[in-house]
Amino acid sequence: MRLQSKVAVITGGANGIGFAATERFAQEGAQVSIVDFNEELGRQKAEELQSEGYHVKFFRLNVANEQDVQHTMKEIADVYGRIDILVNNAGITKDSMLHKMSSEDFKKVMDVNVNGVFYCAQAAMPYMVKQGKGKIINTSSVSGVYGNVGQTNYAAAKAAVIGMTKTWAKELGSKGINVNAVVPGFTETGMVAAVPEKVIEKMVAMVPVKRLGKPEDIANAYVFLASDESDYVNGTALHVDGGIMM
Ligand code: CAA
Ligand code: NAI
Repeated sequence: MRLQSKVAVITGGANGIGFAATERFAQEGAQVSIVDFNEELGRQKAEELQSEGYHVKFFRLNVANEQDVQHTMKEIADVYGRIDILVNNAGITKDSMLHKMSSEDFKKVMDVNVNGVFYCAQAAMPYMVKQGKGKIINTSSVSGVYGNVGQTNYAAAKAAVIGMTKTWAKELGSKGINVNAVVPGFTETGMVAAVPEKVIEKMVAMVPVKRLGKPEDIANAYVFLASDESDYVNGTALHVDGGIMM
């Protein structure tokens, strides 16, 4: 039980990588709050895990809404008395080539993937400072490090996530809070299901381990960065991408 009794908040925890993380964290003994704007799925997944005896609750939230983020983090802290771990996992894509990308789609991706990460970290951090310990894990992407055709908005957002991670690692390290990013490669979730087959084939061909990531591969990295095993890991961007580019 590597996360015994830890209070964890996982944004986008209702689906894909976030749900795999919710399951893994619960198995490791954490009390997990799924924070997601998909209410139907979030409630269903939380009930599924509760029926297996795990401690999982659902909170409906759009991470791009600053006021709602403040309110929800307070609600969670009121229920548990603390917040030990924040996984800023919620994210969206709105892909198109530069010449076709609308400023609305650029902004929508920034609102969720950058502003949402900022709002959640800012709202959860005071509880961690008070406790003198905490873990913030931000989800970036290989697109943010290497760029990717059709992803001007998303790549910019995921690069920003690494910048915020390193800044917060410097600001909060002395307060007992570790801040790290995970950099997933292409991973089998609904997000990748929308990518044309020929693009996926090209990507897999570039991966030395010759497969897409599984949500559990990413969730396992989250568990490590959330656990006491990573207390001296701070400001890193941990690639979980099968070595797609080095
Ligand atoms: N590498 C190189 N060239 C590419 C390419 C790629 N990955 N993807 C598209 N192109 C090329 C096409 O071959 C095409 O070239 P030609 O004009 O010479 O034929 C040109 O770019 C335009 O492509 P489309 O005809 O597909 O243009 P479109 O406007 O219909 O669609 C697109 C553009 C929406 C970007 C579409 O190509 C697409 O969905 N691509 C995949 C984008 C992608 O990889 N998204 C990742 C989503 S998963 C995720 O984001 C998770 C994560 O963190 C990695
Ligand atoms: P997904 O689409 O399967 O799940 C995302 C979850 O986030 C959903 O439950 C959705 O309802 C929720 N969500 C989206 N916007 C939200 C918002 N504004 N507020 C609250 N919840 C919101 O996506 P996936 O693949 O599990 O992605 C998780 C994270 O991993 C994202 O940050 C994504 O950018 C990142 N990532 C994914 C990769 C992949 O190949 N699947 C690769 C690299 C990074």
